[in-house]
Amino acid sequence: MTSAPETLSGDRVRLRRWRDEDRAPFAAMNADPRVMEFFPRTLERTESDALVDRIEAHFGRYDFGLWAVEVPGVAPFIGFTGLHFAQFSAPFTPCVEIGWRLAYGYWGYGYATEAARLALAHGFSALALAEIVSFTSVTHLRSRAVMERLGMRRDPADDFDRPALPEGHPLRRHVLYRLDAGSYGAKG
Ligand SMILES: CC(C)(COP(=O)(O)OP(=O)(O)OC[C@H]1O[C@@H](n2cnc3c(N)ncnc32)[C@H](O)[C@@H]1OP(=O)(O)O)[C@@H](O)C(=O)NCCC(=O)NCCS
Repeated sequence: MTSAPETLSGDRVRLRRWRDEDRAPFAAMNADPRVMEFFPRTLERTESDALVDRIEAHFGRYDFGLWAVEVPGVAPFIGFTGLHFAQFSAPFTPCVEIGWRLAYGYWGYGYATEAARLALAHGFSALALAEIVSFTSVTHLRSRAVMERLGMRRDPADDFDRPALPEGHPLRRHVLYRLDAGSYGAKG
């Protein structure tokens, strides 16, 4: 794999490595029940900081990860979007997942999709990945809409239970969306 560039820039968004100043707004997002609706619970500041540390460790190990997202001229930090190795075992792992989490005030502008397109392009070109997947709770329609806008495809046969969530938990059942390098390339 080639070394990651410092930033990936699109028409409106910029994906970059994390800065210390991102930690406070990230903690505020992770404490917001609207942002965390499809996660088991909101995060405390120390848990949010520990997540940033894990994201940074992933960059250190693989040269790619969940980039901090900036919208130049609008906001220095609106959340993250990027690529990372799934951290659990399932029939489709090991795999590289694409994921996103934006502060509530930045939903509804297309920023997640634009940022994800930059991450996909990097994953299939610079990193030469064969496939990128994404998954979420069946009921998380906003996240599924991002996956569909990206041209990712769901096969119901791939649906799975998230191992970290107990049986009967409303968020346990997940859908899996896939995009392979061939289909991505064919899309142009
Ligand atoms: C999932 C999440 C990133 C989706 O955010 P989003 O704002 O719906 O997605 P996008 O940034 O792609 O924006 C798409 C919306 O912006 C609108 N939009 C406005 N201006 C736009 C523009 N210039 N270009 C593109 N879309 C634009 C689109 O029409 C679309 O609106 P719609 O949802 O009413 O159809 C966001 O809800 C989130 O961070 N949730 C919390 C964290 C989370 O659950 N992450 C996923 C875990 S699996």
